[in-house]
Amino acid sequence: MNYVLKGIMAFGGLLLISLISFGATAAPFGNPDDIAFGQKLWRSMAQNRLVGANTFRPMPYETAPPHGNIVETMDGRIEIDQRNAVVIVKKNFGKRGETTLEQVANNPDKYMTSITVMFKRESGYDPENKNWFWAKYLPSGILMKNPKGMALAGRVAKGSDKACIACHAAAPGDDYVYIHDRYAQ
Ligand code: HEC
Repeated sequence: MNYVLKGIMAFGGLLLISLISFGATAAPFGNPDDIAFGQKLWRSMAQNRLVGANTFRPMPYETAPPHGNIVETMDGRIEIDQRNAVVIVKKNFGKRGETTLEQVANNPDKYMTSITVMFKRESGYDPENKNWFWAKYLPSGILMKNPKGMALAGRVAKGSDKACIACHAAAPGDDYVYIHDRYAQ
């Protein structure tokens, strides 16, 4: 084999290795695996009546930005892939300054704008951020996207100073959960 050919092969190999490693570390969220897990999470939440047509309805309450003006929050344990873990489901409703609690309580589906979810993944999933999986869905269960077209599912947006992880890092109890410290270890 001549040296030119060897050189080309070595270069090709390097390119392949860099492509593979780039693929593996490309983005902390919105990858096909994240989307697939987000869809499984939705199905499990629906089976457990946390979302969907047969959902339980807790009382809505008013809250500060950035989530909805009015929200409902439920949490508990569900199973995904034979693994039982904590899920926190927040439904967001209405427009700030326009929608009232009474409107949401009487007609939640009409006012729901999005559903934001935290699910506790296995240890090692994202140890620096307490292993939470983050997702944001339309009320229909479709994953929402950021302006770059990336699905909001996975470690959203690890390494950035905006979005779920960056903001929830400031939650009391160092557990990334704002409303209580039930899951703080
Ligand atoms: C700029 C800050 C900020 C960002 C960004 C943010 N949140 Fe929150 N989140 C909050 C605050 C504050 C609360 C508690 C108040 C409330 O109930 O709205 C909260 C509450 C929640 C809760 C209920 C559990 C808890 O922590 O109290 C979930 C679930 C949640 N957010 C998911 C998400 C997801 C998923 C994203 C990203 C798609 C996200 N959040 C982005 C600030 C933020």
